[in-house]
Amino acid sequence: MDSDSPADLRAEWTRLAALAARPGAHDIRVLFAGDPGRAVRFSTRLDDLTLDWSKTAIDDAARDALFGLARKAGLERFRNRLFGGALVNATEGRAAMHMALRGPADAGLLAGAEDASGLAAAERARMQRFVAAVHDGTLRGVTGQRFQAVLNIGIGGSDLGPRMVAEALTMTDGGVMAAHYLSNVDGHAFAALARRLNPATTLVLVASKTFTTQETMANAAAARAWLAAALGEAAVGAHFAALSTNHAAAAAFGIAAERVFGFRDWVGGRYSLWSAVGLSIALAGGWDTFQALLDGAWAMDCHFRDTPLEANLPVILGLVGVWHVNALGYRAQAILPYDARLHRFAAHLQQLEMESNGKSVLLDGGSVGTATCPVIFGEPGTDAQHSFMQLIHQGTSVIPVDFLLAAQADHGRDGAHRILAANAFAQAEALLAGKTRAQVEAEMRAAGADDAAVAAVAPHRVFPGNRPSTTILFRRLDAFTLGRLVALYEHKVAVQGCLWGINSFDQWGVELGKVLASGVLKELEGGPAGVHDGSTAALMARFAALR
Ligand code: F6P
Repeated sequence: MDSDSPADLRAEWTRLAALAARPGAHDIRVLFAGDPGRAVRFSTRLDDLTLDWSKTAIDDAARDALFGLARKAGLERFRNRLFGGALVNATEGRAAMHMALRGPADAGLLAGAEDASGLAAAERARMQRFVAAVHDGTLRGVTGQRFQAVLNIGIGGSDLGPRMVAEALTMTDGGVMAAHYLSNVDGHAFAALARRLNPATTLVLVASKTFTTQETMANAAAARAWLAAALGEAAVGAHFAALSTNHAAAAAFGIAAERVFGFRDWVGGRYSLWSAVGLSIALAGGWDTFQALLDGAWAMDCHFRDTPLEANLPVILGLVGVWHVNALGYRAQAILPYDARLHRFAAHLQQLEMESNGKSVLLDGGSVGTATCPVIFGEPGTDAQHSFMQLIHQGTSVIPVDFLLAAQADHGRDGAHRILAANAFAQAEALLAGKTRAQVEAEMRAAGADDAAVAAVAPHRVFPGNRPSTTILFRRLDAFTLGRLVALYEHKVAVQGCLWGINSFDQWGVELGKVLASGVLKELEGGPAGVHDGSTAALMARFAALR
């Protein structure tokens, strides 16, 4: 195990709790009233990208305590170990070196003893040649037709990241090629795609780090049968490619070595969109777009690696989250990109954050004494305003929000973009300001309401306010900036994992369900009955009766 014992942070956690318990300490409005420079002092920039964290209850004392906690937790040392290729994923004995995938060939990043930068660049060059050959028609389907569409079959990190990015970056202009994504083993998903796709012009990518994931293998088999039925078994070789660390399994599936694009086990699934798993992004959006995405992420890597904690965006975003979860006890976090192109951004962050930091065991095997990852959820604004924002404004739980917004749109209708931006700013302002009973009553009386109406309705129209948010504002949502944003959240997750003393890079919690599912499947296929709790046994019997 390549890790230190977690530092004893009890004094730091106690200090944070005491700061949060000060009378009036949560009143963000009071902080603004007492400090005209607050918005500037609690905003941090990297070029055009601004993180405004002033609409939180963090004051100077809380900020100092948070940075003190980070230092005591060894964040700077952790950062050095991460970028030094140490085996930070201690339970699997692996480095977490996804940064090498986006840096230049000569960045010199190692994963253990391996030249991660060199390996990543070599594989990137293979991918680039493949993409060029598909785009210029050198590589065609078995009937001689050019590929018109790419179908990426994968799940979790082999789906969420590439899907989110490809959809974001091709929404504006349609991209170079259509990209489709198949993740769910539910046969309805493939049936719907099969109706829309032409096998003769479809390139199928089987994206699976392990090449053993049940859902992906089942979907890949379905796609293979579909292609073979339409074009003959020989078509498989011409229409499939694999994105995997498991070259032997890809070969056994019938995919030739030159069509297997690889990466190493130091790339976690939820960090793999930058690797061969991102091939569908490059096919859909073009190579230059994919390269710009990598460049943006690398810019954020360098910022995270080289910038002092106090000016470091991922560190600050991570500390704001720690303040909310650990000092104030908020157990959920909403992600609201005001950008329709980012409609899968929260879905990607759900896996990134909750699979990484949804842990309750310390690196040394002990139990965590603090809360860890909150529930992450979200939707683009303004859609979110018409679904769950009611609860965030007036519910009994306080749920901090991350707003994301581009200053410039790419659709040419600036009026629409101003409406969008106005809503983003207004939501954050409403969460902070709220509306008092006196304001509501005055409004109602001005509109002619009588005493009875005021008494009956006014309480329902009060907004408590003082609800925290952060805003991430940038010039444009281009590939470079999307790369910066995803890497910002990746490193935020690493920062929080360090502070909580957990391993952000394993995911043992998904294993038990997988194992049980294969036993249950055998039973559903007619095998002998297993031992189940009463509810599961009854449901399986009812399922059988209904078929
Ligand atoms: O959900 C568990 C998990 O292992 C994820 O971490 C991963 O992204 C996903 O399954 C898919 O795994 P693979 O790429 O190996 O098919």
